[in-house]
Amino acid sequence: MNRHLRLGVNIDHVATIRNARGGLHPDPVRAARLAAAAGADGITAHLREDRRHISDSDIERLTAELDIPLNLEMAATEEMLDIALRHRPHAACIVPERREERTTEGGLDAAGGHNHLQHFVSSLREAGSRVSLFIEADGEQLRAAVSLGAPVVELHTGAYCEAFLEDPEGERTKQCLEQLRQAAEQAAELGLECHAGHGLTFDTVGAVAAIPTIAELNIGHFLVGEAIFGGFDSSIRRMRALMDKARAEAGSARSA
Ligand code: PXP
Repeated sequence: MNRHLRLGVNIDHVATIRNARGGLHPDPVRAARLAAAAGADGITAHLREDRRHISDSDIERLTAELDIPLNLEMAATEEMLDIALRHRPHAACIVPERREERTTEGGLDAAGGHNHLQHFVSSLREAGSRVSLFIEADGEQLRAAVSLGAPVVELHTGAYCEAFLEDPEGERTKQCLEQLRQAAEQAAELGLECHAGHGLTFDTVGAVAAIPTIAELNIGHFLVGEAIFGGFDSSIRRMRALMDKARAEAGSARSA
């Protein structure tokens, strides 16, 4: 059981707002420093093929200026691999990416794309980055991660969050949560470190944070959106507090 659940704050959408005007404000590196001060354990940034939010120079500055670990989300392409090998981020999370999608839709097909992914996982590991694969909560994908030599998986929480929005108490919501729980347990049995993320909010984070074998959550869009109403510092602190509370309560329930 991981007592401290790490929070990786994804700053992509600070860059989205900056890019809307093409200038320098708001600066994602400033947001990253603020996130660290508010309780983030790491910063996550997705350098997309079309550079729609984070730019190459953001990655350069984040690598040079951050005091907390950087998790670079990247597609399995030669261009992204070259960039990752140049910067050697603390962590690299391989995600599926199609140019036309609005966000990362669905997990990576680690099982089907095994031969293609092997080179990326091995090269990033040799460069010293902690490699994770962003996958659906599915046993076949977990086993593929093991055979690829990835030490970490990140479970896609999108389906759970969407089901929760439709009906927080509904069958589909319960099913999605149970799938996450089982996959996180199986990941631990397979010796994988388990992370989770995508679409998490103040309302959905607790149930995921309560899963004891999850070591890290990566959260972005909601935190940046919520910052409009209460500030970035306050949205991160509240998320952090909800995560810690859920983890502590789950721990006490198990030991009772
Ligand atoms: N984890 C991964 C691998 C992602 O691709 C994303 C979205 O970029 C997130 C976490 C964060 O999702 P959200 O911005 O919806 O919190």
